[in-house]
Amino acid sequence: MPHKPVLLQEVLKIFEGISLKVFFEGTVGAGGHARAILEAHPEIELYLACDRDPVALEISRNSLLASWGKKVEWVRGAYANLAQFLKERKIVSIDGFFIDVGVSSMQLDERERGFSFMGDAPLDMRMDPDNPLTAERLVNEQSEIALARILFEYGEERRSRKVARAIVEARRKRRIRTTGELVEIIKPVATRGRLHPATLVFQALRIAVNDELGQLKKGLEAAIEKTAPLGRIAAISFHSLEDRIVKNVFRDAKESCESLMKKPWVPTEEEIKKNPRSRSAKLRAVEKRG
Ligand SMILES: C[S@@+](CC[C@H](N)C(=O)[O-])C[C@H]1O[C@@H](n2cnc3c(N)ncnc32)[C@H](O)[C@@H]1O
Repeated sequence: MPHKPVLLQEVLKIFEGISLKVFFEGTVGAGGHARAILEAHPEIELYLACDRDPVALEISRNSLLASWGKKVEWVRGAYANLAQFLKERKIVSIDGFFIDVGVSSMQLDERERGFSFMGDAPLDMRMDPDNPLTAERLVNEQSEIALARILFEYGEERRSRKVARAIVEARRKRRIRTTGELVEIIKPVATRGRLHPATLVFQALRIAVNDELGQLKKGLEAAIEKTAPLGRIAAISFHSLEDRIVKNVFRDAKESCESLMKKPWVPTEEEIKKNPRSRSAKLRAVEKRG
């Protein structure tokens, strides 16, 4: 399924009326937001399109951003390394920064990458295929206590200890290698509710494998430092752990940045109907003080 950009009009509104010469997008994915930002801002001279997933970069380069090759420079890596990327290109500051965090629909649909608990695939979950840490290694090599902590902190899984115990007991018999095997192990013990019982566990493992929360904090702090006066920084998050980080980093930067909204912007009913994945999205943004 092609990835539908979330809160697109709202993101465009954040950058409306300001002159963007150099723009950095940390999570370009299929390029849906990128194309719309480039169309709305003909003054852009350089659009740094970053993603740690080389497949995403390839897709955006060959489809939605194919006609924007002159202005776009693709950056493979983690957006928290913003300062390094700018230094390598001798760029002192940027005028806009945007991230839309988490996994894309394309990553979820690519079964072999192991992000989805539907079907059976290797327990991978890496956005960056060069990352030495896979979900398989986490599940088989972490201590029971460390696993329980990951499930509790990153998945808010209330039955984290029981799930960690079930995993450790199962792996004593043999290494857990696939998403299907993991689902069978955790199904009887994980929290049941409206969600599939594997939802929170898979979310937690994915966040841990990709250090998603660490990236978010470091990336936003780097963006605040590198954005020029009157430039803007926007972030879309998808669950409360992420939104808390965005809110706190922006609040801690209130000396140098002014918030552009009191409450985060959320999708309209209409958007949620068209794109259920947008349901939990929240957009926050700040302007660097002049
Ligand atoms: C939700 S998708 C972005 C979709 C994009 N806005 C669009 O319109 O197509 C998230 C993308 O961010 C990438 N990503 C997530 N965390 C990242 C990080 N820390 N550094 C670089 N890329 C990251 C993922 O690989 C994925 O391609």
